[in-house]
Formats: sequence, C-alpha cells, structure tokens
Amino acid sequence: MTQQIGIFGTSSMALETRDVAEALGYSVFFVAPDASNSQEWPSECEVVVESDVYLFSNARFVIGIGEGAVRQRIVQRHANTLGFTNLIHPSATFGHGQRQHIETLRGVIVCAGVRLTHNIQVGNFTIFNLNVTVSHDVVMGDYVTLSPQACVLGHVHIQPNVWVGAGAVINQGSVSAPRTIGTNTLVGSGAVVVADCEPNSVYVGVPARKVK
Ligand SMILES: CC(C)(COP(=O)(O)OP(=O)(O)OC[C@H]1O[C@@H](n2cnc3c(N)ncnc32)[C@H](O)[C@@H]1OP(=O)(O)O)[C@@H](O)C(=O)NCCC(=O)NCCS
Repeated sequence: MTQQIGIFGTSSMALETRDVAEALGYSVFFVAPDASNSQEWPSECEVVVESDVYLFSNARFVIGIGEGAVRQRIVQRHANTLGFTNLIHPSATFGHGQRQHIETLRGVIVCAGVRLTHNIQVGNFTIFNLNVTVSHDVVMGDYVTLSPQACVLGHVHIQPNVWVGAGAVINQGSVSAPRTIGTNTLVGSGAVVVADCEPNSVYVGVPARKVK
C-alpha cells in the first residue's frame, strides 16, 4: 500500500511540499487548522482538520508552511504523537555526509534543485525551497526558511526562525568571524547581506540594510 503523508498547510508552500512528496511516491493529504477557510483548500486533494489528524496514525507528517514560528507551534502541539519525517527531492545534491546528516533530523523539506556542499549543520524543520544553494561551513538553527534561489555562502550562521527571501545572497564569513543572521530575522528577496544581521529585524537591498 502507498505510504500516506499529511502535509500541514493548504497554501502555496504546502502545494510545493506536495510536489516533493509525490516525487517520492507518497499519497498526500493536507492538514488545515479548522474548516474556517475551506473555500480556499486545494480542490483536488483530501484535506483533514487538525483535530482529526490522529485518525491517520500510520501516516507520516511534514509542515508545508513558510513561517518558522507557525511550524514551531504545530510541532509543540504534536511532537510526541505524530511521526514527522524529512522530504528530500531526488534532484537535490549533497556534499560528503550531508544527506545522512539530514536523515538524522525531523521535518526538513528539500525541494527540487537544492545544492548543499559540505560541513553544513541543518536544523530540524528547515525548509530549502527550489534551487537553494548552501556552501560549506554553515550552521543553521531549527525552523529556518530558505526561499527559492537563496544562496548562502561559506562560514555563515543562520539562527533559528530566520526567513531568507527569494534570490537573497548571504555573503561569506570567516572561520574566526562567521557571518551571523540573528534569530527571527527576515532577509528580503534579492538582498545581499554583507554584514551581520541583528535578531528580530528585517533587512532589504544591496547591500542589505535594516528597515525594521
Ligand atoms: C522584505 C519584505 C518582508 C518587506 O515586506 P513589508 O514589510 O510588507 O514591507 P513593504 O512592502 O511595506 O516595504 C517597506 C520598504 O522596503 C522596500 N522593500 C520591500 N521589500 C524589498 C526588497 N525585497 N528589496 C528592496 N526593498 C524592499 C519597499 O520598497 C519599501 O520601501 P519604502 O519605505 O522606501 O517605500 C518583503 O518585501 C520581502 O522581500 N519578502 C520576501 C518575499 C519572498 O522571498 N517570498 C518567498 C516566497 S516562497
């Protein structure tokens, strides 16, 4: 029988997550918080509400929601009862030991075209969207979101719950001074980060400047 996977979320990130799941042969259903926005649910796919999720005890689960803080709250509700898994698209490529490292984690989503080199520490429930590139000696906390085409160069530390926008570049740090993106910070699409970013902030532009 085909393995079922429940994807938390019903919006675009959930649909992109479905692409990865289907490439891996899973049978997909979505998990919505409740039925209040049922008119926006994907029409062609089964959707269950979160309170019924325990009826699917044999399924695996992932969270296809871009906001790390939302993923974190879902994990807090279900960490001990649902089997969160990783999804790695077959077209992703990995340097030495990186795939094995991710397989020790939970809830990591790796979309098509992602490239990871070596010595990269990934956090649980990290999302690598389409064509993300991560270079060597990078450390990521839990619940990081890397949007399509984001490019993280070497010796960078990305703290938990950071969101890196589409096409943004995080320039390299060094062994003694890794480039650091503070927790909960958002880097806007197309930004080029050339200095450390404070936590709980928004950075945009080239070179990136703090706007919030
Ligand atoms: C950075 C971002 C979060 C700001 O959104 P916001 O809080 O709604 O801010 P606003 O749109 O009101 O813009 C605030 C200012 O920043 C500028 N700005 C916004 N996003 C910018 C960007 N990516 N690059 C450069 N400038 C940007 C705006 O022009 C505006 O400038 P102004 O005050 O001089 O007019 C958003 O624009 C962004 O880049 N989000 C990431 C999108 C993305 O990659 N999604 C991935 C989906 S998978």
